[in-house]
Amino acid sequence: MVNPKVAAAINEQIKNELESAYLYYAMQAYFANAGFDGMANWMSVQVKEELFHASKFYDYIINRGGQIQLKPIAILKTTWESPLNAFKEALIHEEFITSRINFLMKTAIDENDFASKVLLDWYVNEQVEEESNVTKIIASLVQVKDSGEGLLMIDRELATRVFIMPIPGQGAQPA
Ligand code: FEO
Repeated sequence: MVNPKVAAAINEQIKNELESAYLYYAMQAYFANAGFDGMANWMSVQVKEELFHASKFYDYIINRGGQIQLKPIAILKTTWESPLNAFKEALIHEEFITSRINFLMKTAIDENDFASKVLLDWYVNEQVEEESNVTKIIASLVQVKDSGEGLLMIDRELATRVFIMPIPGQGAQPA
């Protein structure tokens, strides 16, 4: 049986992960409408990752005999000033998610819930990857500034991203 305090925090995190998917869906639409199909593709992969993060928590609660409590999810934002502005907001959001994963980890440790700690190890590593991926894109966007050619180059690169379902028990997928 899953620890009730940890289960409550995981249910809250399922909402956060679904909210992340919603945010990146909005960014996908923003990029598609602005003609940046590669960036839209990158965000569409990000949406799938977030849905995976939510479902991994969901399956864990079910497998340990806990109760799923779905909560309302918010539309955080739908438009941005520029690609750089959107990716900067994605990083701020990922830093928030990292703080929530750290809170979950602390709760699991305080409650001596070692099975949840093992699950959360995966998310701690995943957040390192999540923040790093977005930080690299921000660095490229800062470098090209407003150059149309530079933006197109980044867009072409981000068009190559594909979603790879993580293998159970293994770490995060590459960017
Ligand atoms: Fe599920 Fe982007 O963290």
